[in-house]
Amino acid sequence: MTPVTGPIAAHPSRAGRELVEALEEARERTLALVASLSTADLERVHSPLMSPLVWDLAHIAAYEDLWLVHRYGERPLLREDLAATYDAFETPRAVRGDIELLGAAQAREYLDEIRTRTLEVIDERGVGDGELHELVIRHEHQHNETMFQTLQLASLRDYELADRRDSPPSPDPAFTGLEMIEVPPGPCTLGAPAEGFAYDNERPRHRTDVRGYQIGCTPITNATYLSFVEGGGYERREWWSAEGWAWKEQYDITRPDAWTADLAAEWRLGRLSPLHPDRPVVHVSWFEADAFARAHGARLPTEREWEKAATWDQESGMARAYPWGSEHPVPGRHANLDQLGCGTAPVGAYPEGASPCGCLGLIGDVWEWTASAFDGYAGFVAHPYREYSEVFFGEDYRVLRGGSWATRARVATPTFRNWDYPQRRQLFAGLRIARDL
Ligand SMILES: [Fe+2]
Repeated sequence: MTPVTGPIAAHPSRAGRELVEALEEARERTLALVASLSTADLERVHSPLMSPLVWDLAHIAAYEDLWLVHRYGERPLLREDLAATYDAFETPRAVRGDIELLGAAQAREYLDEIRTRTLEVIDERGVGDGELHELVIRHEHQHNETMFQTLQLASLRDYELADRRDSPPSPDPAFTGLEMIEVPPGPCTLGAPAEGFAYDNERPRHRTDVRGYQIGCTPITNATYLSFVEGGGYERREWWSAEGWAWKEQYDITRPDAWTADLAAEWRLGRLSPLHPDRPVVHVSWFEADAFARAHGARLPTEREWEKAATWDQESGMARAYPWGSEHPVPGRHANLDQLGCGTAPVGAYPEGASPCGCLGLIGDVWEWTASAFDGYAGFVAHPYREYSEVFFGEDYRVLRGGSWATRARVATPTFRNWDYPQRRQLFAGLRIARDL
């Protein structure tokens, strides 16, 4: 990689320096993630749901070229001929394995070449307001999580990524996921503030009234979910939606995606791990999460309920930036984030991450399915392009909140909205239940 030289190195703005460091750090993580993979494993389609990993690599480069070199730097694209192949919308996942892609070595070279150009542009003209650089950093972070999903589905026996954390802390007392917290009725503020970086679908920030409800103190644990499975959870028609039941029957779904048939262990990135009773259930679809909730006389929280429980400070009458306050997430202190342990932690393990109403584990560990379909808030304006989120609005997708252990800390915010189809199980997703008061 070309070192940053010239004006930015001699007189760098603080924001510029921080963004350059973040770009470099993001790249280090991306490359570390694939460092132990063979060329064949990088280029193979491991699951029809996911891109070959080599597509992610070149797509990260193409996105950076488009936004930081072409749009921001006003230079021509380095590889105009690759633009369509690596545009996520023009080349959807289902076809990425059938078309000609850059090989692993070429993709790495492409990443390097584009980064050199990016740094040249920053050298020439600084980072402006930094918004596009932030967009590109977060984009790479988000692809890191997508790549972990691919690795989880690939179940590569020899996959190596240093586990950088000792065993996660054990909460005391232990939780099951069925302990409930009451949130009284009343107004709250939802969505991202106008200042600072946020995605278009998080804005505008708005006031709303939410009826009183109960919400789980933590996500549902493996032990609690196991009781559901053993108690006929996948056989009792009355607990399932018509669509969920049809899906379950068609694919003969009888347990979470990563669990072994004897219900004693789960696959984690190619390694078999005993089913830890106190860790959150993960790799369940929205349909399963919904059935679990119904079986417990509950339901999934709406997005509004989830976000109010995460941020609304009843005493100050203001929304916090994070459940615990305004401090940016410190992985291992506030939450299980940043791929630290390459897996989940016991629910409730990070009491410092508690929200104003006392909910734990809202950020990190597992994404949480909500009852809500994906849509724009009133006053939504697409930015910086319609294909980021607007084209996905509608009844097809359900929203997930909170991020997972595989989410980078920079992108883990309580206003961030993820979305996927209700049958999907590749996400590091679990659930938290809710009830009307
Ligand atoms: Fe992307």
